[in-house]
Amino acid sequence: MRQQSIGGNCQVLLDQLQKDFMALLEIASVGILILTPELRIRQFNQAALKLLGVSDSMAQPLDIPLFELIDKNQLSESEVRMGVKAHLITTGKEGRRLFVTSRESSSRNILLIIEPAGDASPRVKKPMAGSVAYFHFDDIIGQSAVLLRTLEMAKIASQNDSNILLTGESGTGKEMFAQSIHNDSARSSGPFVPINCGALPKSLIESELFGYDSGSFTGAKREGHAGKFEQANGGTLFLDEIGEMPLDIQATLLRALQSREVFRIGGKKSIQVDVRIIAATNTKLSKLVEQKLFRKDLFYRLNIFCIKIPSLSEREEDLSILIDYFLGKYANKRTDLSIKGFCPEAIERLTTYSWPGNIRELQNAIERAVYLAKSEYIEAEALPTAILQHQSSPELGAQKNIVEPACPRGYSLLDMEKQQIENALLTCHGRVEKAADLLKVNRRTLYRKLEKYNINQKEFSK
Ligand SMILES: Nc1ncnc2c1ncn2[C@@H]1O[C@H](COP(=O)(O)OP(=O)(O)OP(=O)(O)O)[C@@H](O)[C@H]1O
Ligand SMILES: [Mg+2]
Repeated sequence: MRQQSIGGNCQVLLDQLQKDFMALLEIASVGILILTPELRIRQFNQAALKLLGVSDSMAQPLDIPLFELIDKNQLSESEVRMGVKAHLITTGKEGRRLFVTSRESSSRNILLIIEPAGDASPRVKKPMAGSVAYFHFDDIIGQSAVLLRTLEMAKIASQNDSNILLTGESGTGKEMFAQSIHNDSARSSGPFVPINCGALPKSLIESELFGYDSGSFTGAKREGHAGKFEQANGGTLFLDEIGEMPLDIQATLLRALQSREVFRIGGKKSIQVDVRIIAATNTKLSKLVEQKLFRKDLFYRLNIFCIKIPSLSEREEDLSILIDYFLGKYANKRTDLSIKGFCPEAIERLTTYSWPGNIRELQNAIERAVYLAKSEYIEAEALPTAILQHQSSPELGAQKNIVEPACPRGYSLLDMEKQQIENALLTCHGRVEKAADLLKVNRRTLYRKLEKYNINQKEFSK
């Protein structure tokens, strides 16, 4: 009887706490999303919906994946999990700019704070949004001789103030190296400002880099806008995908590098900047120079200290170290399953695959496999299709439990889409949410397609 009343009291207390908590959520002027460890929305406030431009009904029912509301290209899964601070994203048709901060709570849920980034000043004023370098050399995992040599070079470069050019295939860790160099340099207390020359339309690169003065063009902010050069003053400017820089802007960039001063668009006075440049590219700049797509003088100016980041295939001995590292990083996110490792077939798959997307691809594959795992030794079928389809050895190709993409000649695009959906359902034992994840579409889209192709997901469950 007494036990019952204690239980009853606890429930009352919990209900009150829940009500207070909900009221607090709604009072907050910032947007708040509470995510489950699988990055599904557990709770949100109205401010978050408003900022993301989402209607209440779109966010209901709760439990929808975060990436139905935020584009993965703006904010990646690993960024959410690793934690970002005032990370700038653009969302909606009108390109609303928002700052996102994420942090894991002790309950393993992830808290996401969303603030408008427009004219309003962000809560984190210094350093500026997106201007924090998180990585240090110690975060760069690997023991191979070629990686250790590269790290040594990068450490020497960090103690020097000259420009650096980082080359290497996609996903090899160029940005990680750039951030580590910054953090190891005398400029570490200054900002680290990245700009991706490949992701911006040509018309925007110039104003993003050099800023603009008030009224210099229609739509310009009244008080003008500081460009990345000014924002990076006293720190490092990271010019990512420099090979994509339009030729005419290359000339202005070269002038800025030589004179250490910039002019805002429409501005008359020069602004002194003290910036160290780290540029990165996954294309051969010397080839672009030959093709007259990249200025030779700019190439020489940037190429003072060139560091090539090795691809994963050049450092095979690091593969198992990285697999263990990422497994350790993600395994504890599965609270329902104690993941111990990969089964032998999965290890075979992982170690014989060619990893064209390098460490990013490996990291994503392991993160995904951990989430799809059904037993403590992760099965091969939890690996992405690209890895399962890769046939480096005849024995592997002969194993028939692998879902092969059946796309014989004469297949229409629709047939192929249907086949892909069935493959995904097969891999995920009929679980639509997981299949949607695998296919990188949202759950509702997949349900629509199941109806369209008359596929019964129950036929795929074990
Ligand atoms: N040696 C490493 N140890 C641990 N993680 C790594 C390592 N190298 C890369 N990563 C991880 O791989 C991912 C990709 O790294 P990064 O963004 O630095 O690559 P990148 O070379 O800049 O790729 P891209 O050319 O596509 O922009 C990041 O999530 C990073 O955390
Ligand atoms: Mg990069």
